[in-house]
Amino acid sequence: MDLIECFLISLGVAVVLYYGAKLLLFTRILFPKLWFPLSKSFFSSMGEWAVVTGASEGIGRAYAFALAERGMNIVIMSRTKERLDTVAKEIGDSTGRTVKVITTDFLKENVFSKIEDQLKDMNIGVLVNNVGMLPDVIPCKYLDSKELDKTVTEVINCNVKTMAKMCRLVLPGMEKRGKGLIVNISSGIASIPFPMYSLYAASKVFVERLSQGLQSEYKEKGIIIQGWILLCIPLHLLHAEFLQRSLQSYVKSKIYRQEKRSNAIYKNKSWRV
Ligand SMILES: NC(=O)c1ccc[n+]([C@@H]2O[C@H](COP(=O)([O-])OP(=O)(O)OC[C@H]3O[C@@H](n4cnc5c(N)ncnc54)[C@H](OP(=O)(O)O)[C@@H]3O)[C@@H](O)[C@H]2O)c1
Repeated sequence: MDLIECFLISLGVAVVLYYGAKLLLFTRILFPKLWFPLSKSFFSSMGEWAVVTGASEGIGRAYAFALAERGMNIVIMSRTKERLDTVAKEIGDSTGRTVKVITTDFLKENVFSKIEDQLKDMNIGVLVNNVGMLPDVIPCKYLDSKELDKTVTEVINCNVKTMAKMCRLVLPGMEKRGKGLIVNISSGIASIPFPMYSLYAASKVFVERLSQGLQSEYKEKGIIIQGWILLCIPLHLLHAEFLQRSLQSYVKSKIYRQEKRSNAIYKNKSWRV
């Protein structure tokens, strides 16, 4: 074998190794769960119970299911008792976890002391502030909104006040135990000024800012507080029976990323806000 042959073979081997390594790296992006398996117990290590607001339908229901599959007992909250009971039975039957139902209407005043009583002495590890209302799907100028005064109160009560009050209820327990995860469901609409949906968009900016501020204040206590931007899914599709499986997978992939990020935060103590 002369020198040229040796050189060409070495070059060939180097090229194969280089692209082999690149391919391997690429599969890490394609199959993250294979490369970075996570402990199934991350969420339950935060505490025994997860509380999910607005959990009788849509994203909240999918979150409740996914957290129960991760070993947590769940408190689900919304206005409609029958729907909550059905979801509680479905979750209980499929995961074997305990599900507690709290019926409440976040549009009303003074509901939180009753909720506080019902959550008393529970070891709450995860809170998902999911409930949120879009006053009107049809875009319109602020003053053209139907029943504007009522709408303003309702959006503030449901999207703003509820989140702040629920954080108020669970944070002391988390602080005492030195751990916990609060997920506040935001929306892409909060990222830029959004005329014609001004009130809703502004309420979601509140979600972002409160999450960031609280994360800064409570990071030293071992509590993770995240605002999560969700994709826009048309509501009629969101509730369609045939889409429930896709919605579950979407939320599960969100939860996977959330778990990965939270794990990294705990491991590296890098409290990125
Ligand atoms: N859908 C989207 O495309 C999208 C995009 C970005 C962000 N988000 C955000 O994601 C969250 C969930 O959205 P979603 O589309 O899943 O909502 P959804 O399907 O309309 O579900 C809302 C849930 O909240 C409950 N709820 C509504 N009003 C309530 C009230 N006043 N008091 C107590 N419970 C109430 C509903 O049950 P009852 O009717 O039985 O009370 C239901 O369980 C919201 O914060 C929303 O802003 C949604």
